[in-house]
Amino acid sequence: RSVAVLAGGLSHEREVSLRSGKRLAGALRSVGVDVREWDADASLIERLRTDRPSAAIVALHGGEGENGAIHAVLELLGVPYVGTASAACRRAWDKPTAKAEFARAGLDTPDWIALPHTTFRELGAQAVLDAMVERLGLPLMLKPDQGGSALGAQVVRSAADLPAAMVSCLAYADTVLAERFVTGTEVAVSVVHDGTLPRALPPVEVEAPGGVYDYTARYTPGATSFHCPARLPADTIALLERTALEAHALLGLRDLSRMDAVVDGEGRVQILEVNVSPGLTDTSLLPTAVAADGGDLGTVFAALVEKAIE
Ligand code: DAL
Ligand code: MG
Repeated sequence: RSVAVLAGGLSHEREVSLRSGKRLAGALRSVGVDVREWDADASLIERLRTDRPSAAIVALHGGEGENGAIHAVLELLGVPYVGTASAACRRAWDKPTAKAEFARAGLDTPDWIALPHTTFRELGAQAVLDAMVERLGLPLMLKPDQGGSALGAQVVRSAADLPAAMVSCLAYADTVLAERFVTGTEVAVSVVHDGTLPRALPPVEVEAPGGVYDYTARYTPGATSFHCPARLPADTIALLERTALEAHALLGLRDLSRMDAVVDGEGRVQILEVNVSPGLTDTSLLPTAVAADGGDLGTVFAALVEKAIE
């Protein structure tokens, strides 16, 4: 029995994925799993066909690794895999689509507008920026509508910073997601389905330098402080865990996910997004939660592999 860990790939998060893949492969080997580490490059389909692993784990981040493309390839080739089915990946990966689902289901998510780049030409850039500030206020958060690791994302504190922030987002995507900026406690809640039912791991509170959890803060060891248990009341922690499980089910996710949220001043859980391929690097949140829960990353993923093969 062999497991292929798919990492690398061609997205902006390639380096992050290589680190996730390495950590995961090491964790699986330490519990006796026969692991192959494969870069998701042009030879991937041929390798999957000829070398047929018993299962694959998608440790890819960004682009084809999270938008369902690689998952669809695995489905076509009949290779069992750990992760969410392609159709649900597509929904979760597109932030405005996922936010609309949260809002429809009565879950809180910061108010938002999605702006395709064509809007700027059609309406004029200044008119769009003015309307955005009028609707959402300042500060606001700008993000590429699809993306990860905070690449391209910017906190905008004054209207003068808007044009540059827009350009930063549009370098990564064709549509900008503008969100009301929510102040509060930033928290990540991982969900794993390694037993009979999906379970929420203990929420991890993120204390980033200057309150901005950007790429550097995410991947520089020691830059960000993680608190697990989170420094929140027990009923808020319970609400976070319930919300993460609800969002996981709502989006039709499978095996594992990580909800990123802010607990606002009124104790409400404002969902920012749910990740279908949470980072597994040494500074990532899901491994931190597994360890805080007294678990072992290799054991959790070995169980997910067994479930995928069944
Ligand atoms: N996009 C990164 C890998 C994360 O969500 O952890
Ligand atoms: Mg993300």
